[in-house]
Amino acid sequence: MGKLSAAITAVGAFVPKFVLTNKMLEEMVETNDEWITTRTGIKERRILKPEEGVGTSFMAIKAAQELLQKKDLDPKEIDLVIVATATPDTLVASTAAYVASEIGAVNAFAYDMLAACSSFLYGMSTAASQVASGRYKKVLLIGADTMSTIVDYTDRTTCIIFGDGAGAALFEPNEEGLGLQDEYLRSDGVGRNFLSMDAGGSMMPASEETVKDRKHYIYQDGKSVFKFAVSNMADAAATIMERNSLTHEDVAWLVPHQANKRIIDATANRMRLDHGKVMMNIQRYGNTTSATLPLLLADYEDQLKKGDNLVFAAFGGGFTWGSIYLKWAYN
Ligand code: UT7
Repeated sequence: MGKLSAAITAVGAFVPKFVLTNKMLEEMVETNDEWITTRTGIKERRILKPEEGVGTSFMAIKAAQELLQKKDLDPKEIDLVIVATATPDTLVASTAAYVASEIGAVNAFAYDMLAACSSFLYGMSTAASQVASGRYKKVLLIGADTMSTIVDYTDRTTCIIFGDGAGAALFEPNEEGLGLQDEYLRSDGVGRNFLSMDAGGSMMPASEETVKDRKHYIYQDGKSVFKFAVSNMADAAATIMERNSLTHEDVAWLVPHQANKRIIDATANRMRLDHGKVMMNIQRYGNTTSATLPLLLADYEDQLKKGDNLVFAAFGGGFTWGSIYLKWAYN
């Protein structure tokens, strides 16, 4: 028996119906379609309308159910459910525990992974390790975020960027050497000054004042975050390529976090990658935080071939960032 690796064997996705276009944002804040398009590459994003009375778990469950149906998998076989998210349903109780119960994964344990826009990337490392150790056979990793619940729709510097969505990936053992090959993951706490939501945590609990001062919304110093993101995401991807002796010809796809088309382009250029090999759906979904990577996999699943070399790269709040090299396991 060969050495066990952990491969992605199925994906699923869900985005809410409501489409928030650049034109609609023009009515809400001082902005315009041309600025948003040239500075970010975003045309529209999906929003989970608050009147639906549901949170992040709603989308996570839908994405997981799509995966289960496509794979014809009995949820009782799932050992572990991880929900990567920056916007859990509630604090304290893991959203993942609720999701696992709702999809019928009654034999699983479940917890959340919170690392801002790198949550899914870090979650890939955790899910793959649990499988490659031989301890668990089926790990369901879901990336889901309802960014619209923490976005200030009077702040034009953030409200144009974010959207809502969810994606899921199943990790299973592989004996052909496919699946996760290598990872380069990093963090730097300096980042919490540049991208944060100040109130609602233990440092600044909710009060009338925090609500009045709009401190329950996400804030970012876009220019600074942009600089860190461009250099770190590109460096991480280049490091993974060097460490594994991958040339741009060897790489079938770059799977980059969808924060800004300019950051994605810079990463692809650093890798000397043909832009046709870069997965991109930022124009339709904006930045869905933990959901960007699995939403890409779901969108491009039809084009992926067994053995394809995929390089994932992400950068997010914290700061957190990194890159993962994975060999795709099915046609
Ligand atoms: O996913 C987690 C990590 N997050 C990221 O990676 C995001 C990184 N940052 C970015 O993507 C970009 O910094 C933004 C898209 C947020 C902003 O783009 P930018 O090119 O860095 O613009 P800027 O903040 O330097 O602003 C340029 C100008 C400013 O006007 P002045 O000072 O030059 O007169 C802004 O006030 O654009 C103005 N501006 C806008 N104008 C129209 C800022 N937001 C808008 C807007 N519409 N929505």
